Amino acid sequence: MIERTFSIIKPDATRRNLTGEINSVIEAAGFRIVAQKRIKITLEQAKTFYAVHSSRPFYGELCEFLSSDPVIVQILEKENAIEDYRTLMGATNPADAAEGTIRHRFALSVGQNSVHGSDAAETAASEIKFFFSDIEIIE
Ligand code: CMP
Repeated sequence: MIERTFSIIKPDATRRNLTGEINSVIEAAGFRIVAQKRIKITLEQAKTFYAVHSSRPFYGELCEFLSSDPVIVQILEKENAIEDYRTLMGATNPADAAEGTIRHRFALSVGQNSVHGSDAAETAASEIKFFFSDIEIIE
């Protein structure tokens, strides 16, 4: 089934000018980037986006990091996109990420791990809606 997932190229990656390189990896893996924009997320938006992690000790650091510099938010389309993008990203902690994955190649640490990807269909739908309006998404 053709699916869409939501992705963020995080500040540690945009700071190092890795947007194009990461997009090449994404496209080479068969994803179509169907929507994409460069934005600066506010601290409040980051807190809402990561609300599910609000009880974690790293929540403050996580939200400050996501809002520290511009990010690329994107919608990726492919058969089985949600699961396949999580595989392509690799484990959350780059130390555990498989060779060839985005996080193994580019991430700096568990916090500065270069990319985010939705973990389930409902999350993908809500995360896409959080960052994109209907007119920005071409069917
Ligand atoms: P992401 O997939 O964007 O979703 C939640 C984020 O929390 C995760 O990526 C990590 O970057 C971050 N995270 C998870 N564990 C830690 C940790 N121990 N310290 C800092 N950040 C973390």
